Amino acid sequence: MPTIALGVTGGIGAYKAVEVARGLQKAGHEVVVVMTEAARHFVGPLTFEAITRHPVITDQFAPGANADIAHIQLATDAALLLVAPATANCLGKMAHGIADDFLSSLYLATRAPVVVAPAMNTFMWEHDAVRRNLEVLRERGVRVVEPGEGFLACGWMGKGRLAEPDAIVAAVLDTLRKGASLAGRRFLVTAGPTFEDIDPVRYVGNRSSGRMGFAIAEEAAARGAEVTVVAGPVSVAPPPGVALVRVRGAVEMRDAVMARAKGQDVIVMAAAVADYRPERATEKIAKETQTLTLVLHRTPDILEGLGRERAEGRLPGTLLVGFAAETSEVVARAREKRRRKQVDLVVANDVSRSDAGFDVDANAVVLVAEDGEQELGLAPKREIARGIVDRIERLLGTRKE
Ligand code: CTP
Repeated sequence: MPTIALGVTGGIGAYKAVEVARGLQKAGHEVVVVMTEAARHFVGPLTFEAITRHPVITDQFAPGANADIAHIQLATDAALLLVAPATANCLGKMAHGIADDFLSSLYLATRAPVVVAPAMNTFMWEHDAVRRNLEVLRERGVRVVEPGEGFLACGWMGKGRLAEPDAIVAAVLDTLRKGASLAGRRFLVTAGPTFEDIDPVRYVGNRSSGRMGFAIAEEAAARGAEVTVVAGPVSVAPPPGVALVRVRGAVEMRDAVMARAKGQDVIVMAAAVADYRPERATEKIAKETQTLTLVLHRTPDILEGLGRERAEGRLPGTLLVGFAAETSEVVARAREKRRRKQVDLVVANDVSRSDAGFDVDANAVVLVAEDGEQELGLAPKREIARGIVDRIERLLGTRKE
């Protein structure tokens, strides 16, 4: 079940966050609690630790907390960030991008949906500064669970009391459901290079890192899809929440993809599959001659094979997405490749650029579909992945079944 990051800030309502954590757990979620320093004046971390059975993150600089850059890790692992109670101070930091503690850094580092449940004194709640900060957050897509009215801890009567735990849990569950735009969809994504063996110790490979395919898989999984990744030899870590199948060569990748192709809603061939493979020597080749000639044979074109299968009616309704790594005439070649391989979408990237594409964390691509082209400018691969998955969702919506 998805992990919820629960940020607890320093308000009297902090004790109610214990109930919120329990409610989320009852709904089947893992809860990891992050407490600000002020929150610890109201509730002890041990209470949360005992309930969630996870260590509570209290300090950005505590030894161990950064061992695996914990806030970045939680930022990727969390399906949602909830801040309850959210003080005026915390909302202000979020609105203005100030990252001076673990929770505010987590907010900047995550791409998961964010829900806040503000709690503060009525006059603070009504203050123009707080109003504007909430407006900024709402515009950014943050969901606000409005505080309730009543007797406040400070003795005032009015609005500002933390919403009831049930209402906060309901808002979280609703946000998660809405975020699941690909729920029930099945994705098969290939990633990374293939290594084609020359002899028992040598191979022909390429510089693909697997990051682009992994980012697409992660994005689809974050939107609720059931994702299988077939990855060539890569060193970057696969995203959480996907089924991973590791392969080495093009033929092995073809077999792994074909065995799983049926019943997929979408297949994305992001892998840099070798086009040729050497005749593999059974013994290690010794350096006996001045020159050595390798004889290379064409590998099966997996994407073309999928296009053919679908054209012949064996993959009904599966959307096919390919990549085109080009060094010139990027769009024209991608269009030609899309027609030739009979696929719906080709993601074309110019691999002659040194700032994008292979082996770097950024990419710049053009999405080539039947109804036109769309350019996604230079951006981190995660962001490019979002654009690609958005386009896939649109194609799924308009596809004739
Ligand atoms: N691809 C594949 N099987 C192969 C080679 C490539 O499935 N044996 C897929 C890649 O995963 C990618 C797409 O085909 O989605 C395009 O690959 P690319 O290397 O850009 O072009 P090619 O089709 O190999 O054509 P060319 O080398 O002529 O540009």
